[in-house]
Amino acid sequence: MLRKIEEIKNECQARLSQVSTMEELNEFRIKTLGRKGEVTLLLRGLKDLSGEEKAKAGRVANELKQNLEQMLREKIEAFKRDELEQRLLQEKIDVTLPGLPRQRGRQHPLTQITREIQGIFIGMGFTVAEGPEIELDYYNFEALNVPRDHPARDMQDSFYISEELLLRTHTSPVQVRTMEQMAPQIPIKIIVPGKVYRKDDDATHSPMFHQVEGLVIGQRITFAHLKGTLVRFAHQVFGEDVTVRYRPSFFPFTEPSAEMDISCVMCQGEGCRVCSHTGWLEILGAGMVNPRVLQYGGYDPEEVTGFAFGMGIERIAMLKYGINDLRLFFENDKRFLAQF
Ligand code: DAH
Repeated sequence: MLRKIEEIKNECQARLSQVSTMEELNEFRIKTLGRKGEVTLLLRGLKDLSGEEKAKAGRVANELKQNLEQMLREKIEAFKRDELEQRLLQEKIDVTLPGLPRQRGRQHPLTQITREIQGIFIGMGFTVAEGPEIELDYYNFEALNVPRDHPARDMQDSFYISEELLLRTHTSPVQVRTMEQMAPQIPIKIIVPGKVYRKDDDATHSPMFHQVEGLVIGQRITFAHLKGTLVRFAHQVFGEDVTVRYRPSFFPFTEPSAEMDISCVMCQGEGCRVCSHTGWLEILGAGMVNPRVLQYGGYDPEEVTGFAFGMGIERIAMLKYGINDLRLFFENDKRFLAQF
C-alpha cells in the first residue's frame, strides 16, 4: 500500500510540473482530489486495511493529500502573479498624454443675476438686508396694510404653517422689520434679496422663487427719487437704450403705486411674442411707502417719506438671457446651467 501511495505521489508531482495553464490545473485537481479523484479514492480505500497498516498508510496518504493541496494553492498563486505581470507589462502608460480636465463649477444664473442687481444698488449707496422665510402673518400682511379678510390677500395665495405663521409671499415684510430696527434714524436705503413662496406652478410661476425688495426712507423723498433710481437700475441691467414707463397700479403698502415697464428687450419695442405685441415688459412694482406702513415701522409720516419697489429675480433673468421656461432654473440640468 505504501508503495502504491509513493507511486501516486511521484506521478502526481510529475504531472503537476507539466501543468502550465489554469485549465490544466483544474483538470488535474479533479483527477486527483475530486470526488472520484485518485487520491480521494485511495483515502477511501484505506478503510479496508487492518489496524497498524491502516494507521501508517492513513498518515502517509493524508500527508500526500495535504501536500497536493498545498502545491495546488502555490500553483494558483503563481499563475495569478504571472497573469498580473503580463498585464502590467502590456499596459503602457504614456506620461505625455494630457491629464483629465478638472471641471470647474460656476454660480447658478440666479445667483449671478442677484449679485449683479446687488452690485448695482450697492453702487447707489444701498446696503443688503435679509429677513426670515418663515414669516409672521403680521409682517407679511398686517403691517403692510393688508388686514385680515382683505381681498388683496387673494393676490398672493399662501402656504400657511399656522394661523400666525406662513412662508413669506414676498420680500416686503423686511421693510417693516428694518424700519422697527432703525426708527427713528434716517436714511434707510436697503435692498432685500431672498426666496418667496406662492401656490403657483407653471412655465412662468414656481411655488418658490426669488425677489429683490428695495426701500428708501428719508426726508423729502419723492417719486422723482424712485424714478431716478429705477431708471438707472434698468439701464445697468438691460442696457442704456431701454426706455422705461410707469403705469398706475395698486399695492396696499404704497400710495401712489405704480408698475414699471421697460421697452421689450427682444424686439426693441416693435412688438413680439415675448411682450404680447405691446412693445413693453412689466418688470417691477413700486410706489411711495403708505403712511400707515411708516407708522407700523415706527416712523412719523409727517416727518419722513419713502419709496419702495419689488421685483422677481427669475423674471429679470429670463428677460435678460432670453429664457422661456422658469422651471429650467430649478431642474439643475448642467447643459442649461453651463450656458451662463
Ligand atoms: N410685494 C409685491 C409683490 O410681491 C411687489 C412690490 C410692489 C413691492 C410694490 C414693493 C412695492 O415694495 O412698493 O407683488
